[in-house]
Amino acid sequence: MKIILIGFMGSGKTTVANVLAKKLNLEVIEMDNLILKKSDRKSISEIFSLDGEEHFRDLETIVVKEISGLNNVIISTSGGIITKERNLKHLKNGTIFFLKTSFEIIEKRLQADDMRPLFKNKTKARELFDLRQKIYGKWAHQIILTDEKSIDEVVNNLMEHL
Ligand code: S3P
Repeated sequence: MKIILIGFMGSGKTTVANVLAKKLNLEVIEMDNLILKKSDRKSISEIFSLDGEEHFRDLETIVVKEISGLNNVIISTSGGIITKERNLKHLKNGTIFFLKTSFEIIEKRLQADDMRPLFKNKTKARELFDLRQKIYGKWAHQIILTDEKSIDEVVNNLMEHL
């Protein structure tokens, strides 16, 4: 079994992946961690500021390609995975779930976050959010609405679709 979680920053991909992994006895693959390991930087923000976003996107594609053959895993993708069409072919052999969260809720969750370079400017983040919603929806096999739901509710909801 292979479960792939996509969605905007702060939609809960990694949190949901960890809970789900315990229930289903699967391993969690956290793409941001792997991307960071591939770089020689200390943080994602550092990759963005010192190497630039395109370099980050290249590392993202290298990582998604490398993990494409894995099975019995839950992949918590990086939020921008859908910005490059080239990444989709590496996610073909799994079920893709879009964790759909409203911008208002994401904004609250990421209030004190300084790990996400693309969320520093709220206006730009909102534009990015609007731009990406359709693409997440297009890539997804299932859309899981997460607003007003606890993590357990999201996880149970997702499991109904397995
Ligand atoms: C990004 C999302 C982040 C991280 C990087 C870029 C994006 O991952 O990969 O800051 O472009 O949406 P999370 O979705 O895990 O926050």
